Amino acid sequence: AGGCCCCLAAALPLLLLLLPAGCPVRAQNDTEPIVLEGKCLVVCDSSPSADGAITSSLGISVRSGSAKVAFSATRSTNHEPSEMSNRTMTIYFDQVLVNIGNHFDLASSIFVAPRKGIYSFSFHVVKVYNRQTIQVSLMQNGYPVISAFAGDQDVTREAASNGVLLHMEREDKVHLKLERGNLMGGWKYSTFSGFLVFPL
Ligand SMILES: *[C@@H]1O[C@H](CO)[C@@H](O)[C@H](O)[C@H]1NC(C)=O
Ligand SMILES: *[C@@H]1O[C@H](CO)[C@@H](O)[C@H](O)[C@H]1NC(C)=O
Repeated sequence: AGGCCCCLAAALPLLLLLLPAGCPVRAQNDTEPIVLEGKCLVVCDSSPSADGAITSSLGISVRSGSAKVAFSATRSTNHEPSEMSNRTMTIYFDQVLVNIGNHFDLASSIFVAPRKGIYSFSFHVVKVYNRQTIQVSLMQNGYPVISAFAGDQDVTREAASNGVLLHMEREDKVHLKLERGNLMGGWKYSTFSGFLVFPL
């Protein structure tokens, strides 16, 4: 409890960031924002749980209903080009496996980030009945950030891609290893990304 004064002082910038004017706070059922009038207080919890909370390096824990954001979508059927997909060239998904926070819109197959932060994305696009080379790009605000290729006619450019969620213990390490063959000719367009989705 002695550290709480420092904690409160240090928390103010964090609090301003998280709880703008009017301090909207998520209700228990996580659908209805409650607007609280007046000043916000930080309550220090000596045994903070990771559940739904953002913990700063100072150990300040602020509860937030939107701390958990995750989605995973898949196609359960082949996609035949439609008027809409021919126009937008979006890769549409028809099944959602996970949509915590509901920030992935299945109809438009667009994810909208609910808050500033670091997000992890991976994709694995499978084409069938199609001999044409494809290039799939991850678009951020309409601009391509990363690309992946499949079905290059003269096979000068191929990609191996996959994505996974892993349970990691402290000091566990991951890296990419070429188990077979060689990748002579360059590593352009390769990516390797990881992100702590939430602590356990
Ligand atoms: C959530 O709470 C609001 C306001 O209390 C209520 O109108 C709504 O029906 C609740 N939703 C669920 C899913 O319980
Ligand atoms: C979509 O584009 C493909 C390839 O150009 C074409 O064969 C197909 O007829 C188009 N479909 C529609 C519904 O416009």
